Order: sequence, then structure tokens, then C-alpha cells
Amino acid sequence: MSNPVTLDIQGDIAVITVSNPPVNALSQAVRAGLKKAFEDANSNGDAKAILLVCDGRTFIAGADISEFGKPPMEPHLPDLIYEIESSEKPIVVAIHGTALGGGLEVALGCHYRVAVKSAKMGLPEVGLGILPGAGGTQRLPRLVGAQKALEMITSGIPIKAEAAAAIGLIDEVGEGDDIAAIGIAFARRMVDENMPVRRTRDGNEKIKADAGNTALFEGTRALLNKKARGMFSPFKCVDAVEAATTQSFDEGMKTERRLFQECMDSPQRHGMIHAFFGERAVGKIKEMAPGPNQGKPRDIKTVGVIGGGTMGAGITVALMQSRIPVTMVERNEEAAKAGRANVEYILDGGVKRGKLTVEQKDAMMNGLYKVSDNYDGLKDVDLVIEAAFEEMSVKKQIFKTLDKVCKQGTILASNTSYLDINEIAACTNRPSDVLGLHFFSPANLMRLLEVVVTKDTSPDVVVSGFALAKRMRKVAVRAGVCDGFIGNRILSNYLKCAELMVLDGVSPYDIDKALVEFGYPMGPFSVSDLAGLDIGWATRKRLAATRDPNIRYGTYADKICEQGWFGRKTKMGFYDYSKHMVADTPNPAVMEYIEAERKEHGYVDKGIDQDGIIRRYLASMINEAAKVVEEGIAQRPVDVDMVLLFGYGFPRFRGGPMKYADMYGLDKVVADIEEFAKEDPAFWQPSKLLLDLAAKSETFDSLNK
Ligand code: 3HC
Repeated sequence: MSNPVTLDIQGDIAVITVSNPPVNALSQAVRAGLKKAFEDANSNGDAKAILLVCDGRTFIAGADISEFGKPPMEPHLPDLIYEIESSEKPIVVAIHGTALGGGLEVALGCHYRVAVKSAKMGLPEVGLGILPGAGGTQRLPRLVGAQKALEMITSGIPIKAEAAAAIGLIDEVGEGDDIAAIGIAFARRMVDENMPVRRTRDGNEKIKADAGNTALFEGTRALLNKKARGMFSPFKCVDAVEAATTQSFDEGMKTERRLFQECMDSPQRHGMIHAFFGERAVGKIKEMAPGPNQGKPRDIKTVGVIGGGTMGAGITVALMQSRIPVTMVERNEEAAKAGRANVEYILDGGVKRGKLTVEQKDAMMNGLYKVSDNYDGLKDVDLVIEAAFEEMSVKKQIFKTLDKVCKQGTILASNTSYLDINEIAACTNRPSDVLGLHFFSPANLMRLLEVVVTKDTSPDVVVSGFALAKRMRKVAVRAGVCDGFIGNRILSNYLKCAELMVLDGVSPYDIDKALVEFGYPMGPFSVSDLAGLDIGWATRKRLAATRDPNIRYGTYADKICEQGWFGRKTKMGFYDYSKHMVADTPNPAVMEYIEAERKEHGYVDKGIDQDGIIRRYLASMINEAAKVVEEGIAQRPVDVDMVLLFGYGFPRFRGGPMKYADMYGLDKVVADIEEFAKEDPAFWQPSKLLLDLAAKSETFDSLNK
């Protein structure tokens, strides 16, 4: 393999260039190449100044994450950066794209920093469950002060070049886009003006004042207790930055190393890194693999949306945010008006929250949005997304009409959450152009998109769905057809488990509390209140005829609905929202219904504690997820993980249910299921895949490879 780092002596300037596509990550070869290049530049008789620059689309985007967990190889990044900083010749680094993590830490070790205007820089390690481990927590505060450093390191959010210049992180924003030219010009000035070597590690001015600033550090910890509840690494980030203000540079580096190692050893790091790679892995589907069945995405310039309700309006806004023109179709003039109002309502919310200007909203409504009460406007669109009422006969009627009206090649998608899309496709003359695009509410904010592939969907249409998702910045996951696809099918199983626990003596409030402590933003009962209890009620009625009579059925939720209590929208559900919209006051009637039901059927309190709640809830989720993989509804376990992470609030730091199961131990999951099955064998039927993997001491992850 060619050396990813080159040294080129241009007159009296030594130009070191990193070229390690796609993102110039700091692999061992890059680190070794940098070490040698800086040594050679320093010993070169002609070179008076050194420029570090990168080829390709970005500056160094960080340490090579795929090396994490493997035995560390020399040169170690902190040592390398120390050596770079020790250079006797002045160094300027020229940044384009993103200087992230270890990449920014390398830049902090250089003596001067310039960037193009479009460049961004940040320390996103916290998003991987770790902290900057190559001096970032010690050098950044020395350049920008402890407060700004804390903001950047605990949020992980990169900042733009101009903002970086304003706080002293970089010295200059260059003119134009030619990063090498900007770097050379600065290096020239360094030589001509005899600019001195300037080592970040030696500057203590900006941090002196923050030694012992408890208000700053305790204040940040208090904030994180709210924003990053249950997480490990954000708090270690604060400890490390605090150490920069109280310890010498060398001691601070030792503290950083110790804290970094603690993060590396934590299960949260495994979960977060699984999520990072998982987010990218789900985009790789069999229809993209080279070969005769490789799909070619169709050009999607305009889209039709059927239905202007909550989902239709949300999808419309999501499309318009990606600059895609939308024609919305509703049943009649009145419904069309309501559809427009729903779209405006969402955009106005964006304006209120400062996400959008009034001008941007007007430009969308006037330039990208049309609404009509007939299908004529859909003749030439490239894709139609149907988001009408969840009723098979309604959907079939719509698809028959679309099939007649739309030009050849238009892709027809349904946003159904559970209906059989094979059946919908069969009522058209183009079943290979039909697929499911299952958005999650609110569709303009939620990142998950299930791309549901029927038995006839063509590879071109599948990859078109993925290409659209990419434009919309959604995380698309390929799913097969079954009731509820990947996410809702697993959801109904673990909600059933929660229902059974309630019959067995646990209160809905204890379940919510346990799940929040596990890391969910909300527990299942408060989520149901938010979504509307009528939705689950309708599903239960739909499935009543096919319900397994051997599995107990709790009627308490139906009784709540019979009172007209549908959750937040009626100010009463499992919780009472009459005083405020926070799920903290139980509706007293709920426990009365539950107690009455337990008494009527003679259900005994099984004394399930918090640990028991989590073990049951997770086992039911993992078991159903394994069945979903076993049946080929999900391609791989990682697909399930990403669905649960991006659509159902599963805590990212746990990586997803399959990753959690691997870390917990599949044999232990099986043992749990066997224990619970003694009491409720009809519900607890283990997945064959789970049993097989556990018997072979394998992991779900082995199926992701
Ligand atoms: N290490 C290894 N691989 C990486 C990587 C990294 N740091 N960053 C990205 N990649 C890989 C991706 O997995 C992907 O691989 P694939 O094509 O096989 O799926 C490929 O590079 C391209 O990445 P994206 O699809 O994400 O490309 P984008 O252009 O959308 O985004 C990016 C580019 C903004 C740089 C984004 O990749 C990113 O955010 N990367 C991670 C940055 C990061 O977290 N850096 C910190 C690393 S930890 C560290 O530095 C520790 C240090 O303090 C000691």
C-alpha cells in the first residue's frame, strides 16, 4: 500500500499531505507516516516552515474508529502530537471539510491554524461514548478557555470556521476554496515575517482564571444531569477539562489518559460505536451489490403526497426541507384546505423555534407546495407517497387510481404502518413499482424510514427509496412485509409484555420509571398517552379476531379509552394532564381498573421488581427481534438495532436491543425466557435463531458481518 502521508519540499516550505480516503482517519499507517514526515521536515536543510494539509474531501476526521478495541499500535496519537508540537520549525495546518476528534487534536498541536470558510471543527468523541484522548481536553481550553471548551467537548457539536476564529481556535479564515494555496500563503508569511514557534501546551493565560471555578464545572454537571442522564462519558469530559485548569499540562494529560481509558472500557462505548457503524451499515443493501440484480435509482424530481393529515403534512414538510416540490392531494376542497393548514402549522412551529425564517417558510409554501382535490396534478410526478386512512379498501382504491393516472415509471409508495403491501401492490398493473415508505411521526423530525420491500418490488425501486432517504437525511432500513414490519411488530410484542406485567402486579408507573432509568426518554405508557391511546385501541380491535386465546388479554386500556380518555389530547390517559402536559400525575381511575381486573381473574402479584421489569421487557423485545431476523423481515440484527434506536427511543448508548443482548449474553436471555415461560408458556416462545446462537455461544453481531 502506498504511503498515505507524503512530504514535498517546495523551496523553503515543507508540505506534508495526508491522503487516506474517504475521511483521512488516523490509522496506524497515517500516524507512522506523519511521524516520519515531521521528522524529515525538521531535519531538512532547506525547509524553514512546515505546512500540514489533507487531500480529498476533508481534513482528518478523527482517529480510526475501526481500530478501537484492537491492541494499540505505535506511534500513539498523544505522543505523536506532542512530538509535532515540539517541532523547532513553525507549523501551520490548513483545514478544509471537517477537522474532527483526533484530527482537530493534531491541528491543536500545530503552531498556527488556518481554514477555508466552509470548514467545520469539533471534538465529537462524546457521541462515541469516549472523550478526546489525544490532548483535546488539555489543549482546547488553553486556546479558547474552559467554558467554550466544555461546550464543544460535552456537546460534540462542530463549529464553523468563522466561529472558530472568533474564539481563538484558528488564526485565520482564508479567501477562496483552494486549501493548499491558503496554507502555502500562510507558510510563506511565517517564513518572511519570521513568525515564532507557538506551542498550545505552553499557553496558560485563558485557563488560569477557571481554576476552582465551581460554578462553571458544577453548573455544567447539573446541566448534563438533565441532558445526558444515564450517560458516562459526558461527565468524564467535564472532569478532564477541569483537570486542565488545576493541573500542569503533563499531569493533565495523564488524567485525560486515565479518564479516556475508563470510557474505552465502558459498555456504553461499545453501544455508541455500534450505533455509529450501524447507521452506515443499514444503507448497504443487497439491491446495491454489484451484479445482475443491482438496482439503479430513478430520478425523483417531484413527489405527490396523498393525504394532508398529521403524517401526510409531516412527510410533505420533510420533502420540502430537502428542496423537493410536493403536490398534495386530498379528498375534497375542505380537506385540501385543512391539509394546507397542517403543513403551515408545522412550518410555523419551525419558525417559532428559530429553525426557519418566515421568508424560508413563504418560499416553501409558494415555490414547493401545491394542494389539490383531484389526481390530475399527479400525472407527471416521479413518486407518490400515500398517507391516507389505515384501511385496506381505502388504500386499494387510491392505488388503483394512481395506477391509472401516473405516468409509466412513477414509483407508488404507501406509508402504511402494518397493512399488507403485497396486497396493495397486487391491485395495480405495476406491482414492481410499489413499495412501502414507512415514516415515523413527526415525519419532518424523526430520522427513521422503513423501506418496505414486497415480493415484487424491483431493485431499482428499492434503491430509489434509499436514495430519497439519503437526500432527506433519514436513516433508511430495509424491511420485509409482515404485520408491523420491523419496528411496530417488535413494539407490539414488548407492549404486550408490559401489559402482562401489569396483570401480574406491576403498575404502569413502575414500568415507565424502570424504562426511564434504563435510558429511554419516556416509558411506554407515557409514550402511548403522547401518541394517542385510540391508536392502540384500534389495533387491538383489528387484531381481536386473530388474537391467541392462550395469551391473557388486559382490558384496562380499553376501559380507559371507553371513557374517552385518549392521553394528552384529551388531557387524560394513564396520566392526568389537567394541570400540565407532563406525565407525572397518575390518573387515579387506572389503578382501580387494574385492581378490579386482577381480582376478577384471580391474577396474583408476582412481586416483579425493577430488575425483573427490565429483564422481561428486554427479553420480549429481543425474542421478537430475533424472529424478525429469522424470517428475513430484517436483513441483519443491526437493522433491527437501528430501527429501535432511530424510531422507538431505545437508548443509543446501549446500541440497540441486539447489541444489548450480545453484551448481556444470549445464554442469559434464553435462561430468562425459559424462566418466564414456566408461568406463561404461550407468550414466551423462544426464537429458534436465538436458541441456536446461544447454543453455539455465538452473538447476533456474528450475523452482521
Ligand atoms: N474512523 C474510521 N472510519 C470512519 C471514520 C473514522 N473516524 N469516520 C468515517 N469513517 C468511515 C465511515 O464508516 C464510512 O465508511 P463506509 O463508507 O464503509 O460506510 C466512510 O468513512 C464515510 O463516512 P460517512 O458516510 O459518515 O461520510 P460523510 O461524508 O457523511 O461524513 C464525517 C463524514 C462527517 C467525517 C463523518 O464520517 C463522521 O462524523 N465521522 C466520525 C468523526 C468522529 O467521530 N471523529 C472522532 C473519532 S474518535 C477520536 O478521534 C478519538 C481521539 O480523540 C483519540
